[in-house]
Amino acid sequence: EKGGYDYFMLKEIAEQPKAVADTLLGRIGTDGRLTLDEVRIEDRVLRAVDKVVIVACGTAFHAGMIAKYAIEHWTRVPCEVELASEFRYRDPILDQQTLVIAISQSGETMDTLMALRHAREQGAKVLAICNTNGSTIPRESDAVLYTHAGPEVAVASTKAFLTQLVACYLVALYLGQVRGTKWGDEINEVIRQLADAPRQVQQVLGTMEPVRELARSLAGASSVLFLGRHVGYPVALEGALKLKELAYMHAEGFAAGELKHGPIALIEPGLPVVVVVPSPRGRSVLHDKIVSNIQEIRARGARTIVIAEEGDEAVAPYADHLIRIPVAPTLLQPLVSTVPLQVFACELATAKGHEVDQPRNLAKSVTVE
Ligand code: M6R
Repeated sequence: EKGGYDYFMLKEIAEQPKAVADTLLGRIGTDGRLTLDEVRIEDRVLRAVDKVVIVACGTAFHAGMIAKYAIEHWTRVPCEVELASEFRYRDPILDQQTLVIAISQSGETMDTLMALRHAREQGAKVLAICNTNGSTIPRESDAVLYTHAGPEVAVASTKAFLTQLVACYLVALYLGQVRGTKWGDEINEVIRQLADAPRQVQQVLGTMEPVRELARSLAGASSVLFLGRHVGYPVALEGALKLKELAYMHAEGFAAGELKHGPIALIEPGLPVVVVVPSPRGRSVLHDKIVSNIQEIRARGARTIVIAEEGDEAVAPYADHLIRIPVAPTLLQPLVSTVPLQVFACELATAKGHEVDQPRNLAKSVTVE
């Protein structure tokens, strides 16, 4: 049942191009317009939405963080993203014009379920992004967009994450379509690129051998840091989470702009630091800033592992290890930049002799608090 792979996690990483394609299936029309029939929230209601609040836990929360950038950029509707475990115990300000998006692979995460109940009690509409048909979270939501990633067995989420991202992009674009905001060349181009994502993910998967080699060489490291900016920041958090749960190592993700506010004190000679570099073609200021961050940490002895777009030559002189990813629009880059981090964590954990499908102390679905 592992389809020839040693672990479910390896199988699920490899299945990502298909999973992403399945999430997109039937949702982008030939005219480039989206049809999300399952979103049974009337267009009239969606047009009136004045705030989006995303609730989720763990990896699904990282997908939500990325969705915030997309939703605000494409729809101009303010979007908050919050850990479900925090949201449910405070007194959030919601009303009928709030759209709450609950993201969950299993559809059974207790904190996310409680957060959505809390939201509905206050009159907010809840849209679930979920991978498990008929699970509790979609059943209790006003509408659901299924990710169609297929069953995810490994505790560490991989294909569920990429498909959650795709679903979030679809929701963001759909909201933009319904509301008529920002619909133009940029959006059409994004939709075209999104349709190409399965091929790009496949392309990344084909270039992972050097990443595996690097991961094995770092099995003795005591700590790994991850830096990113913009949507690369949640990707950094996700890379660190994967390493914690699989390799039981100290790993932390930071927004690169925070370096001087504390984390740079952690940099010491030989410390591996993974940096997710935004496209130089998009908002180039982001790119310039991260190049200086790489220089700063390298000057202090960090061993820099740089994930950068093909053709981005500016980072090359400062990269001890350079991992190339395909050219993608800024907001969609997480679909390709996350993959090397999944492979990295899986391989490093395996090199340490860990059982990657069932990491210690963790359950696939957290149905208790
Ligand atoms: O089933 P859910 O998406 O609601 O689960 C949320 C988290 O428990 C989950 O993403 C967890 O963080 C994973 N083990 C991460 O790999």
